[in-house]
Amino acid sequence: MPSSFLFLSSCPSAYAPLRVLRLRGSFLLLPSSFFLLTSYFFLLPSYFLLLRSYFIMTDNQLQNYLEIATEAALAAGSVLQSFCGKLENIQEKGRSGDLVTEADKASEAVILEILGRHVPEHGILAEESGKLGNASSKYLWAIDPLDGTTNYAHQYPFYAVSIGLLIDGIPQIGVIYDPLHNELFRAGKGLGATCNRKPIAVSQISELRTSLLVTGFAYDRRETADNNYAEFCHLTHLTQGVRRSGSAALDLAHTACGRSDGYWERGLAPWDVAAGVLIVSEAGGQVTAYDGSAFEINSGRVLATNGKIHAELSGALLAVPPLSSWR
Ligand code: IPD
Ligand code: CA
Ligand code: CA
Repeated sequence: MPSSFLFLSSCPSAYAPLRVLRLRGSFLLLPSSFFLLTSYFFLLPSYFLLLRSYFIMTDNQLQNYLEIATEAALAAGSVLQSFCGKLENIQEKGRSGDLVTEADKASEAVILEILGRHVPEHGILAEESGKLGNASSKYLWAIDPLDGTTNYAHQYPFYAVSIGLLIDGIPQIGVIYDPLHNELFRAGKGLGATCNRKPIAVSQISELRTSLLVTGFAYDRRETADNNYAEFCHLTHLTQGVRRSGSAALDLAHTACGRSDGYWERGLAPWDVAAGVLIVSEAGGQVTAYDGSAFEINSGRVLATNGKIHAELSGALLAVPPLSSWR
């Protein structure tokens, strides 16, 4: 309970009908309501500040969480670089092609250690360890310690660390670190987006015809007809090209800084996109479901663009011809 409220309600003299005030040597008899009113007058601002800090995240608090996420992402990036090219243990987990290495685990361990030191009271959703920490906290850190594991295992130079902070399910902090190219993408809700601490912005391309897009294919692609193959062909036909990089986090980071004009994908986990969607929207882009409705972190689908091609790309995704039409 706010301290100003405690102070007023625990002050017994506030309930006496009259109170004495000594002013420049004279004694004045005043109704208690006068004291109550003046106390409220002076204490109300601090009461509102306390309420605000409880319900609304201040920029300082967000900046603090952004620095914690940055510390963790940079440390994890160093771990990844120390293992690169020296992997001894590459395993498939669950689905065919879904890999995990000692680098994924070591990177996640260092992130968990740093978050455990700074924010032990928060909840965590980490790709390799699952749910940890305070399950009832409104703060949830979504962690991908190595996004692009297949690339990394083949020494294909495209992978990153992704750390997002959701508050009540909404992304509020996003940090993506590409340790090979030493690029640090960051955003805080309302604070803008940066790459290596310089502001970034989405591209100005305004039609699909002249756009370059990025997408990906989830590990369940062999088990479902909803595998993004038809969408890939359709959009390859309508644009200057569609790239498949193998890192959802970097696809989003590159859309945020204008290297790509739009990105869509299905079959994603919250840790793949929690950081990236915020970085795109803070860079001036648009992030929704395929049909343009509100993005939902657990839906597995995202459409993220520079905003200018959003409606056209959404329309194209909703009108994909069957794969057989390309044969
Ligand atoms: C994968 C990558 C890939 C995307 C997959 C993700 P991982 O993450 O982001 O680009 O297409 O859907 O699962 O397994 O390398 O962390
Ligand atoms: Ca991932
Ligand atoms: Ca991963």
